[in-house]
Amino acid sequence: MTVQTQQQASLAEYIPSGFESAVVSPAGLGLLTCALIIVLAKYFEGKGSKTKLATARWGGGREKTNARTIACEQLRSRQHNRVALYIGTPADTRTQLVNGEIVSEIPSDPKTIYIPDAQRGVMVIGGPGSGKSFSMLNPLIRSAIDQGLPVILYDFKYSKQESATASAKGQAPILAGYALERGYDVTVLAPGYKESCIANPLDFLRDQEDSEMARQLAITINRNLKLGDTDNGNSFFTNAGDQLVQAILTLSCHSGKLKIERNF
Ligand SMILES: Nc1ncnc2c1ncn2[C@@H]1O[C@H](COP(=O)(O)OP(=O)(O)OP(=O)(O)O)[C@@H](O)[C@H]1O
Ligand SMILES: [Mg+2]
Repeated sequence: MTVQTQQQASLAEYIPSGFESAVVSPAGLGLLTCALIIVLAKYFEGKGSKTKLATARWGGGREKTNARTIACEQLRSRQHNRVALYIGTPADTRTQLVNGEIVSEIPSDPKTIYIPDAQRGVMVIGGPGSGKSFSMLNPLIRSAIDQGLPVILYDFKYSKQESATASAKGQAPILAGYALERGYDVTVLAPGYKESCIANPLDFLRDQEDSEMARQLAITINRNLKLGDTDNGNSFFTNAGDQLVQAILTLSCHSGKLKIERNF
């Protein structure tokens, strides 16, 4: 009997005086109802198929087999916007150049990881230096080359070197060699390097009246040459700069055309 009285006394110590009457009051009950509605809303949020865009799970043997079936069909039928890539070249893959076109024979191989519908996009996630390029991206690009697909490779590390004498860390040289061996016409755009081709922005303009393309080029050039990312909030000079570059581009195109006309 004595023990029970002590317990009741210690509980009362933790509950502030007047708490019970505050909760049972209309304001307290209103607050509790709001809290309950929030909890219920959170619980039902995301329930039902309409709110979910997709679900994900770890791919097992069944998923790999399904992917292989779809990918092999896509590799065989070669339709526009139905691209299949793979990691690990299937055994007995044959690629040959026939009349300037790459003709490949890619058999089904259970050891290969197939990625069907790669035109939708592929994302590779991993820490720095964990092997994303080595084990995933480069094999995927090689599989595109095996099929003779056109490839544009943006190699962020093309000129990155560990030291002055070390070779560049980029993936482009190896993949370019792989493509050359299979009959590709490889072009490198790396301004400042002797192997680079020339990309003249003026070639994008149809004629000196193609002001829309000149405008797009001017905006792109100006934004890319912007030093620092601070915006002073004054768009007057930004617009004036865009218009100036646009005018220079159309004028250059016009004078280039005049020069050519005079030569003939
Ligand atoms: N399975 C592997 N076997 C042998 N070497 C590997 C393997 N995976 C990665 N490497 C080596 O580890 C180094 C880093 O790999 P990689 O460049 O693919 O990493 P990354 O994740 O693409 O890095 P970053 O995030 O910097 O682009 C490379 O020199 C690569 O040759
Ligand atoms: Mg990488």
